[in-house]
Amino acid sequence: MTDLSTLVKKLPKAELHVHIEGTLEPELLIKLAQKNKIDIPYKSVSEIKQAYQFRNLEAFLELYYQATNVLVDQTDFYHLTIAYFERIAQDNVRHVELFFDPQAHVSRGVHFSEVIEGILQGMEEARARFNITSKLILCFLRHLSEESAFDMLKMALPYRNYITAVGLDSAEKDHPPKNFERVFTQARLEGFLTVVHAGEEGPADYVRQAIELLKARRIDHGVRCAEDPELVKKLIELKIPLTVCPISNIKLKVFSKITDHNIRALYDSGLLVTINSDDPAFFGGYINDNFMELVDHLRFQAPEIIQLCKNSFMASFLDSGSKEEYLKLIDDTVKELMAEQPA
Ligand code: HPA
Ligand code: ZN
Repeated sequence: MTDLSTLVKKLPKAELHVHIEGTLEPELLIKLAQKNKIDIPYKSVSEIKQAYQFRNLEAFLELYYQATNVLVDQTDFYHLTIAYFERIAQDNVRHVELFFDPQAHVSRGVHFSEVIEGILQGMEEARARFNITSKLILCFLRHLSEESAFDMLKMALPYRNYITAVGLDSAEKDHPPKNFERVFTQARLEGFLTVVHAGEEGPADYVRQAIELLKARRIDHGVRCAEDPELVKKLIELKIPLTVCPISNIKLKVFSKITDHNIRALYDSGLLVTINSDDPAFFGGYINDNFMELVDHLRFQAPEIIQLCKNSFMASFLDSGSKEEYLKLIDDTVKELMAEQPA
């Protein structure tokens, strides 16, 4: 078998937990600030990179929302999106389920149509240029009110055919999923699937609320489910995936160092876990970098890496035929790699 970094690089994979605003690289941030005449507290790329050190989720979110201020018109959202796809084509990502945070933009006077049409343009181009398919997940910001989430849902309805699911993100502490039960019920009635960020900084009970009250099909992060063995059992029984983001969890101090991360225990317990990048431009790692953390520090071996790539498609919202095709593609890629370099 080939070495593990080649395996990580060559295997087809899906990314299920990435915020498009979190892919805004410092170079593009500076360029858009100049173009749109937006004041930012940085003069250079290196200053930005230095500033990207975070005490916790909330400290990160402050800089994240500040950075989003430079996204003003449809072309900005298009450039942001296509730059992300250009980068992940190198990582052999073949399918993406992309979060976006429209409340962070409409609250600044940007029209929802400009946000979503710019992103959709990038997604369409990525399909044609890189053969990467994608779906869109609209996230409600949990630090804002239920009323604001209802307003957002209403604004999104004309685009319902382009939005697969709704999600819930932003500051988790003191913002339990149950606060959004009604708007998630309405979203499901309108035909959207649901996913929820839970158990990142918040307790295991928030994961339980996400499943029982918001009927989440996937839990984003979810690492703190481990504190409740009955809940872990339930997640396994219901086959509810966790979209885990190892580098994010270290950068936001959910775990103090990578060797303390519980991904190995989650994986070994039989949970359907996937590996993702969350906000790669802020955390300094794209999806393959996240896989390499597991290889370099948590003893993940080839069969486990292959399984994690399979999990990424199984946990996706692709139809079952497409899932089968991607699983076969993974098996074929493994065979090719073994033929190239016999043990
Ligand atoms: N958690 C919650 N909200 C977010 C994140 C995250 O990791 N990234 C962007 N919004
Ligand atoms: Zn996230």
